[in-house]
Amino acid sequence: MGERLRIGLAGLAVTVTCLVLVAPGLAGGGTSAPQGDAAAGRTLYVESCSSCHGMDAEGRTGVAPSLVGVGAAAADFQLSTGRMPMADPRAQPVRGPSAFDAAQRADLVAYVGSLGGPPVPQIDAASGRLSEGRDVFAQSCAGCHSSTGAGGVITGASVPALQRASALQVAEAVRTGPYLMPSFSAGQISDAQLASVARFVLSTRTPDDRGGAGIGHVGPIPEGLVIWLVGMVAVLGVSRLLGERT
Ligand code: HEC
Ligand code: HEC
Repeated sequence: MGERLRIGLAGLAVTVTCLVLVAPGLAGGGTSAPQGDAAAGRTLYVESCSSCHGMDAEGRTGVAPSLVGVGAAAADFQLSTGRMPMADPRAQPVRGPSAFDAAQRADLVAYVGSLGGPPVPQIDAASGRLSEGRDVFAQSCAGCHSSTGAGGVITGASVPALQRASALQVAEAVRTGPYLMPSFSAGQISDAQLASVARFVLSTRTPDDRGGAGIGHVGPIPEGLVIWLVGMVAVLGVSRLLGERT
């Protein structure tokens, strides 16, 4: 009995550890960002951005636009999706691994934000309504991104799939209009509608939960992890019990 109890406790410990590891991913697209230091951001800016955007972010004709007044929202979007710093200023900025860690990004965002413009938006996708999000998306976004958010091509740009975008990145893209995407003001898409759109976009990651529980719609890696860990604990438990019998 004591042995059984120990096995049970060990299984519980593994499960709890697994949940602790996976839980931050389940929160998916958190909205809080660390507060950055604009002076440190300025130093990073001069090193990594000024060659294109100019020493004081005034822009360089034919190379890159001014960042005065674009705001923290645009900076956070471009940096968190790894679009900036880009290599070739004539190419379309694309999503990729970020060149900076979260603290450095916060510093850069604080610096660009200190030049004026809209702050990083607040978004709570959980407060959104899925049906409203689907409607707004169909009306304002699907023409370019397709009705499932799978992306496509328009004249002059490839339109990305949206399954990797967090709720915050959806809000930032909608408000700042990166590259050939138009921006939408709160007059066109209200903050409440935006939360619904973000919720809909997150739902497109696992369209109809074919495999059962959606596990927070965070994609195949945490789902696989959960299945793997749960399965492993079960197999271990069963083999211990079989071992005890013989
Ligand atoms: C005219 C076409 C067009 C429309 C309409 C449009 N987008 Fe976009 N969207 C784009 C393009 C092009 C990009 C890529 C921008 C870039 O390359 O920096 C993009 C990028 C994005 C991204 C970034 C994706 C990522 O993972 O990096 C998100 C999120 C997004 N759009 C959401 C939306 C939403 C939500 C709407 C509707 C409210 C919308 N878009 C409407 C063309 C469009
Ligand atoms: C190789 C040149 C290059 C470098 C280096 C570069 N950028 Fe850019 N950046 C561009 C170009 C070109 C655009 C305009 C893309 C477009 O057409 O939308 C842009 C756009 C942006 C925008 C969007 C502006 C808006 O109006 O929404 C932000 C924000 C930005 N860059 C920030 C940065 C930051 C921060 C860095 C340094 C970490 C950086 N960039 C490095 C070329 C560059």
